[in-house]
Amino acid sequence: MPVTRIHWEDLPAVARAAVEEHTGPVQGAATATAGANSGIAATVRTADATVFVKGVPLDHPQIRTQQREVAIAPYLPAASPRLLWHVQAAGWDLIGYERLVGRHADYSPGSPDLPLVARALVELQETPCPDIPMKLAQDRWSGYAGPGGAEQLVGDTLLHTDLAPHNMLVNDRAHLIDWAWPTRGAAWIDPAVLILRLMEAGHRAPAADAWAREQFTSWATAPHEGVALFSDANARLWDEIARHDAEAWKKNMGRLAHDWVTYWRGRQ
Ligand SMILES: Nc1ncnc2c1ncn2[C@@H]1O[C@H](COP(=O)(O)OP(=O)(O)O)[C@@H](O)[C@H]1O
Ligand SMILES: [Mg+2]
Repeated sequence: MPVTRIHWEDLPAVARAAVEEHTGPVQGAATATAGANSGIAATVRTADATVFVKGVPLDHPQIRTQQREVAIAPYLPAASPRLLWHVQAAGWDLIGYERLVGRHADYSPGSPDLPLVARALVELQETPCPDIPMKLAQDRWSGYAGPGGAEQLVGDTLLHTDLAPHNMLVNDRAHLIDWAWPTRGAAWIDPAVLILRLMEAGHRAPAADAWAREQFTSWATAPHEGVALFSDANARLWDEIARHDAEAWKKNMGRLAHDWVTYWRGRQ
């Protein structure tokens, strides 16, 4: 269940004071309109800096994703914002990031953001996966993959796995944010995830596939069987997401995931 997003001013005073121990006195705050998972997501201004603050109540299940973000932060590529501090106070878990000035990536066909998005993902694909406890691709999708086969998702690459355009901030380059689901697995999984988001933005399956082949070695060399298995599993996962919550965009993602499966099965 998503957390209800509150404003900076609505945080308990003790929680705000704990943040101000790190930032200095806060002079103003603006709540982020995008993303819906964090109880608080706001740009917070002090006399000499602006930081991005995310937080969830300690007793909310979402606390796990925030803890994963904290754990992976030191290992992320330079383009991801630096994690500055982490505090718990007054029933809240709060983290502060370097604030990025940028806009959400435009994934539509012909968008000038696409080369920047590709560069950011290439950079991630080349980032060593740290040896810390982390979700494994074969575990995350095994429940949807059917018996056997999930071992095809095994790999040693650090994956983001939620490459939606609102998790990619663009200025002179693209910055990957919202590391709630870092996963170790086969390198071609992130390109597969990105392809679905490109389709959501209007790309046809063959065009998205061809583009990704040019950008990502892992995709150009991805095993047909492995991708087929992942694509099936992912389509089932999106079906489940859409069943639990009938938001139109989720239904649409489910439809696109099935379109992609059909395309991939027919591709030699
Ligand atoms: N470091 C940052 N600097 C500026 N804005 C950010 C930063 N991180 C996230 N945002 C903005 O806040 C939104 C929500 O943040 P995100 O980490 O995606 O949280 P959620 O878990 O709620 O999706 C993002 O879509 C983006 O617009
Ligand atoms: Mg987000």
